[in-house]
Formats: sequence, structure tokens, C-alpha cells
Amino acid sequence: MSIENDFDVSLVASLALKEKQIQQNYRPIIAVHKWFARRPGTLFRGLLLSEFGDGPLKDSYFEANDFPGRVVADPFMGGGTPLVEANRVGCDVMGFDINPMAAWIVREEIEHLDVDAYRVVASRMVATLESEVGGLYRTKCPRYGDADVPVKYFLWVKSIDCIGCDHPIDLFPGYLLATDSRHAANVLVCPDCGELNEVADLKNPGHCAACHAELAIDGPAKRGRCLCRRCGEVNLYPQPELGRPRHRLFAIEYYNPRQRGHHDGRFFKKPDEKDLERIAWAADRLRESTLNFVPDQEILPGDETNRLHRWGYRFYRELFSDRQLIGLNLSCRLIATTPDERIRRALATNLSDLLRYQNMLCRYDTTSLKSLDIFSVHGFPVGLVQCESNLIGIVNGKGVNVGSGGWTNVVEKYAKAKRYCNAPFEVRTQGRRKTRVTIPGEWIGERRTGARPRSVTLRCASSTAIELAPASLDAVFTDPPYYGNVQYGELMDFCYVWLRGLAGAESDDFKRPSSRSPDELTGNATESRGIEHFTDGLSSVYQAMARALKPGSPLAFTFHHNRFEPYHAVGVAILDAGLACLATLPCPAEMGGSIHIHGTGSSIVDTIFVCRDHGEPRRGQAFASLAQLAELMEGEVALLRVAGMTPTAGDLRCMVYGHLARRAIHILRPNWNPSKPTSSRLARFAEAALELGDGLGLIECLIANTTAKSANRLLQLPLFPLDDHDAVSI
Ligand SMILES: C[S@@+](CC[C@H](N)C(=O)[O-])C[C@H]1O[C@@H](n2cnc3c(N)ncnc32)[C@H](O)[C@@H]1O
Repeated sequence: MSIENDFDVSLVASLALKEKQIQQNYRPIIAVHKWFARRPGTLFRGLLLSEFGDGPLKDSYFEANDFPGRVVADPFMGGGTPLVEANRVGCDVMGFDINPMAAWIVREEIEHLDVDAYRVVASRMVATLESEVGGLYRTKCPRYGDADVPVKYFLWVKSIDCIGCDHPIDLFPGYLLATDSRHAANVLVCPDCGELNEVADLKNPGHCAACHAELAIDGPAKRGRCLCRRCGEVNLYPQPELGRPRHRLFAIEYYNPRQRGHHDGRFFKKPDEKDLERIAWAADRLRESTLNFVPDQEILPGDETNRLHRWGYRFYRELFSDRQLIGLNLSCRLIATTPDERIRRALATNLSDLLRYQNMLCRYDTTSLKSLDIFSVHGFPVGLVQCESNLIGIVNGKGVNVGSGGWTNVVEKYAKAKRYCNAPFEVRTQGRRKTRVTIPGEWIGERRTGARPRSVTLRCASSTAIELAPASLDAVFTDPPYYGNVQYGELMDFCYVWLRGLAGAESDDFKRPSSRSPDELTGNATESRGIEHFTDGLSSVYQAMARALKPGSPLAFTFHHNRFEPYHAVGVAILDAGLACLATLPCPAEMGGSIHIHGTGSSIVDTIFVCRDHGEPRRGQAFASLAQLAELMEGEVALLRVAGMTPTAGDLRCMVYGHLARRAIHILRPNWNPSKPTSSRLARFAEAALELGDGLGLIECLIANTTAKSANRLLQLPLFPLDDHDAVSI
């Protein structure tokens, strides 16, 4: 078996597409902790089984597999998807990542946990939090008069003082708090008195029920300017010179368990005096407290963090409300005093993951009526309206979580993830029916009674510097950084600075003040890391992996980028490592609806590069002209269509880039000189990659025609200047 011959594009694409819709339902393990740009587990399972398995992938995929003695490495393990999949099918695994959070998280994923014992300790902790700070998350239901009902979300608007009249102005971009898709009506904030109004027709919002002011949808704050309603002055924002932004609580979404069954829709209210008193109380308590666990690190400049500086944030602790700081510090104290080391680490991991919902950069989704965590995009977007979730979480009478972003949510997800390790499953779809297929015999971990132990080596290190025993690996499965798309260190620092306070004593990896590293293989303008740095790093890593692979074993990795240049770096790295690229295969690996993808024209299809030191190319992958490439792509689009996906222009572009890079590797390999300067290797590669046409314009043209015509006729040949003099066939 080999990936080139046995990987089933349609099957894996259909599984990967479904997984990416709700990844937690297919791979609950991902809930252990956030990592960026996780590829589908189904994809890596497909790769592993088509390389090591027996028989057609469509059968082995839903059966138990065990590959004793196989050693699989991932030099860019991140959140651990390839490693966990390899461990699950009995391989010994070795994972490396430059970011300390990665080794911590993957260990958490793989290491055994007594889930019942964990739940007991976690429940005790939640109960303590409830008794100490629970009162800060209660409110009165004005609708039915019930006291002390739990708050789901506090909604805050940024506020500045008008330069004209000195009065505070709310920077509302719009007054719509909730649409009527999940609630009985639309909810509009009154621009004058702040009362919340339930409105049936947004085209005719009418007048405020409390003060009769005219209701509006659009707010005064747009693109850095806000008109003062009182004096007419135009104010500019943000105002970093004044420090971190100021917020005003303007609305609350709460839950009223006593009115369940009577009430139609959600519960919203304008904060009352008591709610405001609770905030003042939190501020007082914060002043009197010693916050041993709240990080004092400064936010370092960076491609992503500069946005925080532009808003006046200088320290990580400034990204949290007083109430959040009190609750998070208390949580840390309780975790630090948990006697059981394994459970303590689990809870520390939970706290780190919880942070993404417990900060003042979370936004409120006015349609689905829930909090959007800080990492719903791969950056730190600062909104004008922020959402603060209930820290403790709300569990209804049936034991189900209501709302998101609290301790009970995180504990529930984590327990599910760890239970999945003991009994992993797949989801089979037949028509509209989905069946969960348990795979007895597979498990995730190092040890299990009655079973052969597996070796798990996880290290925080730059893979550019690792040396593995020659010919010791049966495969490398990985997904390298996508050049500049995700700034892992900058983003992960948000969690790292907190986790460090809890884990610092237990792990040397947490000694440094930041998880960033100059050796991180990402393009980064602030750090002056460009394409050559990326190329050199990737090249060192692939060379190290090629030395460690047994002859003929695969280095298979996924990649996508909206520009061609990063593919040049990938191609150079493969050539430097002395490898041939025997196949480039498409697989959807992101969710089209993801906030960071949606509407950006970005691709959701990755190219899987399959490389070895020798071997036969996958059948049907040869092309000697753009016309033949178009034919090849036609076949691939047909396979993706079987899986239920129609590639977009962005997807096609990435698929073309992958194929052209493979072809360039093939052309250049016989005479490749890895000792030439990086800039000239990159230039040589770029030249070879475009040999079939007159540059990227041609590729764009191919794509434009591809999407304009029916998907079955990818290319109308006469439109393209075919380069038949180029007889290279691969
Ligand atoms: C695309 S992510 C991997 C995602 C991972 N497969 C997952 O399932 O979550 C790429 C990873 O490469 C890591 N990385 C970047 N530069 C590195 C280096 N020099 N050595 C090792 N890892 C590095 C990043 O920290 C990041 O975790």
C-alpha cells in the first residue's frame, strides 16, 4: 500500500468536510485546548491507513488498525492532529514544536486521565467559585421578578469622553443587539436612554418604549470616527495615549430557569442599579486583592499584537475586566492547590483554554446569540462591543450547559475529549443518517492494561535543530506553518503568560517569558522574518526528516496559501532534502464558513504533498502543458464533487499551485544544488514553476475560466497559449 496509490480523495474529502463543520463531534480530542489551523483528523487517518493499512481505505477506515513498531514523527506538531491519529493506530510517535504550549497540549491529549476523579475535583472547584464569586454573575429578572437568576453574557460598549463637551460617548457601531432568528423579536438599544426594545420590523423600528426617542439600527461609530449626539463634535478613536479602552455595561443576557416552558425566546435587560453595584464591588475587591497569578507581562510588539497597542493595551492583564481578573486569579489559586498532579495539570490546561472566552476582546454574535471567543479569527480583533461570559457557567435542570465560555463548559468538553481517548469512534454517513462507529481495539495513550505500550516522545524545540537517528522513521506526517498566515507565538502568548504561572514550576519549557521564538517559521514583518527565513528553516527541517526516514518512507504534509511564493519555499525545501514529490492530492481542510475564511476568497482546500527519496509517481498526475493540467484538475474536481464539494476559485488556485510546485520539483531534482544561496534557489524554483506559462496571470486566467464554465469542462483549450514545446512529463 502507498498513499500515492491507495489514498481515496473522495472518501477522505467527504469525511474531512463533515469533520470541519463540527470538528468536536468527529474529533472531541481537539477540545483539550485551542490550537490554530488544525487540519482534519480524518485526513491524517486516511494518510496513515493508505500507507500502512491493508485493503481499500473505505473498509480499513471504519475498522480497528494497529501498526506495532511503526515510528511516525511530526516536526510541527502544534495541537497534535497527525500524532494523535498515529498514536491511535498503535504507532510510536515523536513530536516537536518550537512553541512550549504545543508540547504541553499534546501531552494533555495523549496522557491518561482518570476522568471520574477529574470530574469530582473540577465540580468541587466550580462549587467553590460559585460560593466565592457566583454573586457577581447573578441578576434580577425584570420580566417575571425572579431574583438572583444567572447571567449568561454581559455586553459592554467602548466609551470615550467627547472632546467638544466632555460628556461620555458610547462607541456603538450599531444598536442591534439581537436579531429575531434565535429570539422572538429583534432587540434594539435606544440611542437616548439605553433601554432595550423588542422590535418586530427592523425597517420600521419605531420609538423607544421608555423615552419615545426614535430607534435606529446604525450607530454613530464608524471607521475611527464618532459623532457626539450632544454637541455634534466628531471624535476620533482609538485613543492609545489614554491607555486601555474604557467600557460601559449596557446590556445583559440572562437565563431564568424558573420560567422555563413559559417564556418564548431569550432574556435581555438593561443593567439595573444592583448590576452596576456588582461591578463597583468587583473593582473594590480587585484593589484589595493580591493577584499572585495574574500575569504582569507586557504585550510585545508583533504583526498581530500591534493592533492591541493601537488600542492602548500595554499589558496582558488589561485585556480582562475586574470581575474576570478576580475569578481567574481565584481559579488559579484553587488549581495550584490541587494535590493530584495529573488533575492539576488538566485543570491548568482548562484555565488556559477558558481564557479565550474570559477576556474583554470577545464579541457577541447578534444572530446566534453567543460569545465569539478571542480566537474566532487568527488575530486580536478589537471590537466596539465586547461580550463577557459567565465565568462559572450555567447548567440547566437536565445537566446541560446553557451558554458558552464558562468553567462548566470547558470541563464538560475536556471530559468528553478524554473519554474519547479510551473509546475513539468514527462517524459514518449513509444518506442523511449519521452513525457513530466505535472502533474497539483503537485507543489514544501510552499505556493500557493488557495492551502493548506505545512510545510517545514530545519535545519543545525548534525542528531546525533536531537530530534523529538515521533511517529510524517509518513516516513523517505533518502540516508546516503556512508562512505568515498564523502567528503562533504571538497568539499563544495570550494563554502562555497565564499557564506559565501554573506550569512554570513543572516544566522547563515555561521558563522563558514569552512563547515566541526568532526561529518560528512564520513570515513576520515586525520580526523581519521573510520568505528566505521560512525557506531556510523548512529546508533544515525537511533535511533532518529525510535523513531520519527509512528508504522509501513518506514525508507527507498538507499546505495551502493564497500566494504562490510560499509554495516556492516548500518546493526548495523538498529539493534540498533530496526528496521527490510523487503526488499532490487535494483535500478540504478548513471550513468555508469559518470567520477567518468566510468572504476572504481564501482556499479551504489543502494540497497534500507526498514525498519520498524514491518511488513511482501517482498514476494520472503527469502533465506537460496547461491543457493537461486542466484535465488533471477536471478529474480532481470530479472527485471533490463526489464528496459534496464544489471548489471555489481560491481552492482551484491552491490546487494549481500545488501541481505546478510538484512539476517544478520533478524538473529541477536531477540537477539541484542545495548549496546555492537561498535567493537564487527560490528564483530558480519560481522560474521552473512557471515554465508552462507566462506567469501567475496565466494561472489566474485558468482559474477564471475554470469557475466561469461548467465545473466539468475545466478549461476551454483555445483560450490558453499552450506550451507544447515543453515536453517534460511527470
Ligand atoms: C500548522 S501548525 C501545526 C498544526 C498541527 N498539525 C495541529 O494539528 O494543530 C504549524 C506548527 O509549526 C510550529 N513551528 C513553527 N516554527 C517551528 C520550528 N522552527 N520548529 C518546530 N515547530 C515550529 C508552530 O508553532 C505551529 O504549531
